[in-house]
Amino acid sequence: MTQLQAVRGTKDYFFKDMLAMRRVFDTAARVAKYYGFSEISTPIIEPIGVFVRSLGESSDVVGKEMYVFEDKGGDKICLRPENTAAVVRAFINNGLQQHSPCKFYYMGPMFRYERPQKGRYRQFHQIGAEILGASEPIIDAEVIAMAWRFLRELGLGDKVQLELNSLGDKESRHGYRQALVDYFTKYTSNLSEDSQRRLISNPLRILDSKDEGDREIIDNAPQFKHYLNAHSQGFLEKLTNYLTKADLPFTLNQRMVRGLDYYCHTAFEFTTTHLGAQGTVLGGGRYDGLVQLMGGGDVAGIGFAGGVERLALLCADDITEERCDIVFCAMGDLAVEKSIAICEKLRQKYAVQINIGNNIKKHLTFANRVRARYALICGDNEIENNKFALKDLDNHSQVEIHSDNLMEYLAQQTQQQEKNAQKK
Ligand code: HAM
Repeated sequence: MTQLQAVRGTKDYFFKDMLAMRRVFDTAARVAKYYGFSEISTPIIEPIGVFVRSLGESSDVVGKEMYVFEDKGGDKICLRPENTAAVVRAFINNGLQQHSPCKFYYMGPMFRYERPQKGRYRQFHQIGAEILGASEPIIDAEVIAMAWRFLRELGLGDKVQLELNSLGDKESRHGYRQALVDYFTKYTSNLSEDSQRRLISNPLRILDSKDEGDREIIDNAPQFKHYLNAHSQGFLEKLTNYLTKADLPFTLNQRMVRGLDYYCHTAFEFTTTHLGAQGTVLGGGRYDGLVQLMGGGDVAGIGFAGGVERLALLCADDITEERCDIVFCAMGDLAVEKSIAICEKLRQKYAVQINIGNNIKKHLTFANRVRARYALICGDNEIENNKFALKDLDNHSQVEIHSDNLMEYLAQQTQQQEKNAQKK
């Protein structure tokens, strides 16, 4: 029979890959708590409108990458391609405005029909954070500080850099949009098909184009900074001032416009040169009009999301497989019969695996594979005499020990080991 394969662009995670992902999830949860964020979980399936209205029809995500299907009741459903719009929907539906400012963090799978490659998948995971109901630039600085803290706690402080841009307020964007239309119209026939379409639907998106022909034209396009009005300019200045005062490094990148339409003022991305083409590990920004656009009140918003797979790839070198404390080597029927009761007691404190068989060599091979500290060797004789052979696999010593004294002995050994580690 032919083997069934996973869907293209999806991955199975186990062993080191999974541990690296787990480190990213756990670090995100820990850091989010330092900053007073509480966890939110929204459905993986959403009505397609949640994303079409918010991300914009001209964005790649909505235009090309959404997984959309009709359910049995005829409703148009999609798999969420990102989570900001879903969190905003939840904020509105659940009347959370009364709790403003709301600070949420989340983690989970997202889905985009993109061409798979290293660091780019069709099902991938994000960790993210959103603040709804806070409009001051100091909040932008705090959110960026949190992203920096998260990346530093992952050990990636030296591997990433922060790029920052301002997408201004509505008025500034309006002026800049017109300048881009005037400029790109002169080159219409040289632009890629996608960019020609975007010239009409959303000219800002052209700046995002990866097409080489487009890139040359884009290089001489008007720059956003010349179209920021006084308010937008002031907002950016305050933010950069706060970041500088807090020693949070950044570089301004005029060309970074983010791939989704809901942003205003602050846009930022953390990038790395260690991952090839998929170098953006975390992105975010301010989205003050989004709640209103989705049917809620005039509520400001800002947040970010990090790509868990990309971050996990960056931390992979630091990950070591977890250790098992004890392998219980059951050698004989009586030992097998008693194994669960003995190990349940040990598991109150230690990670224990049971291994069954009469060949001591195979037991020790197994114990080495799971990187066990001890092999607790137990045949039927040992059960009858209430004694075990405890082999320390780190220093290869072996002691015989009465079952009543086992927990105490192990505790003493652990204490000793901790003391030795402290001395080092
Ligand atoms: P985004 O830039 O579309 O922003 O995605 C955030 C991060 O998700 C990216 O920087 C990247 O690391 C990761 N990512 C995106 N697509 C893929 C993929 N196909 N495979 C692997 N990783 C991927 C957002 O999603 C916004 N919701 C962020 C945000 C939150 N803005 C404000 N609040």
